Amino acid sequence: MKTRILFVDDEPNVLSALRRMFHDMRGEWDMAFASDGAAGLAMIAEQPFDVVVADMRMPGMDGAMFLREAQIRNPGAIRIVLSGHSDREMILQTVRPAHQFLPKPCQPAELKAAIARSLGLREVFLDERVKNVVARLDRLPTVPRLYAALLDLLSCEDPSMREVAGLIAQDVGMSAGILKLVNSAFFGLRTHVSSPAHAVNLLGLEVIKALVLGVGLFDRFRKEDFRDFDLEKLWAHSFGTGRLARLIAVGEGAPGAIQEHCYIAGLLHDVGKLVMATNFPDAYREVIAACQEGRGTVLDMERQVFGASHAEVGAYLLGLWGVDDPVVRAVYLHHEPGRDRWAGFSPLLAVHVANRFEHELVVISRGYALNPLDELYLAASGLSERLPAWREACAAEVARGQAAGEA
Ligand SMILES: [Fe+2]
Ligand SMILES: [Fe+2]
Repeated sequence: MKTRILFVDDEPNVLSALRRMFHDMRGEWDMAFASDGAAGLAMIAEQPFDVVVADMRMPGMDGAMFLREAQIRNPGAIRIVLSGHSDREMILQTVRPAHQFLPKPCQPAELKAAIARSLGLREVFLDERVKNVVARLDRLPTVPRLYAALLDLLSCEDPSMREVAGLIAQDVGMSAGILKLVNSAFFGLRTHVSSPAHAVNLLGLEVIKALVLGVGLFDRFRKEDFRDFDLEKLWAHSFGTGRLARLIAVGEGAPGAIQEHCYIAGLLHDVGKLVMATNFPDAYREVIAACQEGRGTVLDMERQVFGASHAEVGAYLLGLWGVDDPVVRAVYLHHEPGRDRWAGFSPLLAVHVANRFEHELVVISRGYALNPLDELYLAASGLSERLPAWREACAAEVARGQAAGEA
């Protein structure tokens, strides 16, 4: 089936340029062109699209307003904004509803790559409902304690950049949100940023303030809405896995960029659980109950109930948000690394091992079977004999953290 793509732009020249640029894609793409937001919404009402690409500045309904409507009326679509660099103020308005930001005029190859990348993981979803929820999401819940600390810091007269960055880098929801923004082409960075702390430094305090206080980029987790879901526990496991994955990378002498990939992939590896548990609390309760009764592994039960596991849901979300490929891959396969063809050390390997160690050394939830290590995969990577050294280093790190009173 062809991918349905809607382009919305008020300048007739831009629309005809897009039509020309993508003429050779007619075999794969079914394209529609609208000259304003209202016309675009009318087309959506007729038949939903897979991808919606909108201009930022348009008379009447601007790009931000249009995308917010599209988010409601066509929730499963991937939403891309095209904008000029002078639109910095306006861009902040699209931070939530847009998945990706591309500079205008756009290079056909860049737009093609962004679309192909975003569509990449959609095939794994059997369940339309889950796919739509993931694409509709525009922010993730954050740990209330960290969120409150961030608000306190930002209300100080002269907040410390290091402290702000440190807080954001500890939270799954805040880190993912900040990476989505900083990796948008809008900032014109040549390299991909995978470190939340680096991202905060690049954006600067004023933008962070505008995002947190003005745009509401982060959402405080409300315990009262999700009684059976322990965000603190998931947070502690995620943060712990990130730290251990980075420690393993450091031990292997991996370059700094790989160490960052290992940390962020570890921090975000279970983000799919957060998405599922907070968007489908009743169904996720069913998954947890079934695991506790020993009816199957978390992965099996999630696939049975949702048609997809938390690994797939998390990877799809992070891919849509423009997170680096090695990180998305590590999240996608953290329970099934043997499906990867790469041999040798990688963020996937580090997260697979760190996830197991973290469960083993810290949290053992009632009824949750320990995630088995994939021995064949480790042997194929040629790193099996490193396991005892990694386990020892991780145990020492966990003991150090516990002695210091950390989670
Ligand atoms: Fe997991
Ligand atoms: Fe995990």
